[in-house]
Amino acid sequence: MTDMEQQLFTTGLVPVVTIQDAGDAKGLGTALVRGGIPVAEITFRTPAAADGIRTMAQEVPEVLVGAGTVINRDLAKQAIQAGARFIVSPGFNPRVVDYCREQNVPVIPGINNPGGIEAALEAGLTTLKFFPAEASGGAAMIKALAAPFPQVRFMPTGGISPKNLGDYAKIPSILAIGGSWMVPGKAVESRSWDEIAGLCREARTSLQG
Ligand code: 3PG
Repeated sequence: MTDMEQQLFTTGLVPVVTIQDAGDAKGLGTALVRGGIPVAEITFRTPAAADGIRTMAQEVPEVLVGAGTVINRDLAKQAIQAGARFIVSPGFNPRVVDYCREQNVPVIPGINNPGGIEAALEAGLTTLKFFPAEASGGAAMIKALAAPFPQVRFMPTGGISPKNLGDYAKIPSILAIGGSWMVPGKAVESRSWDEIAGLCREARTSLQG
């Protein structure tokens, strides 16, 4: 496991963040630290993503800041230039994977079937996002995929919430569980940092319990 993977494994959770205003990144990063989850996957779903990554990485350096929804090479470049320490994609895009490896930045592409896993293994990757987790068969599907692919560490995201977190928490081949439920968009926009810190703490507690 790389240092980055070890950090994700130790925390066990990856908040998937969409921010509208990069000015919120410092407050959000601080709330994540207070909530016991010093990790963020800031998604390229808004124009604020790159500046948000840059701000969080600089202002709250204890947070491991990565980029999500990186669907092409240009976004990967923007993310890495902004200081993203890992890159996550919803699918497996060889151009994104090649670029990240050239830049020595860990990349976690998304897959949800055996063919996708084989393509990723061919590219030398064993840590993969399982997306969209719930719609693709959820915890049962990960258990089924882990049988022929014991070398793969999965990061499931998509449709995970406090209701089904426990189903995923028990699976040994899972590196960390991702989701937006810990950082609701409305809470970010209204700068409800105590609420976000509380959601993170609850998630940590249910994962450990
Ligand atoms: C992702 O990009 O990982 C997902 O959109 C997060 O899914 P969620 O909003 O259902 O947690």
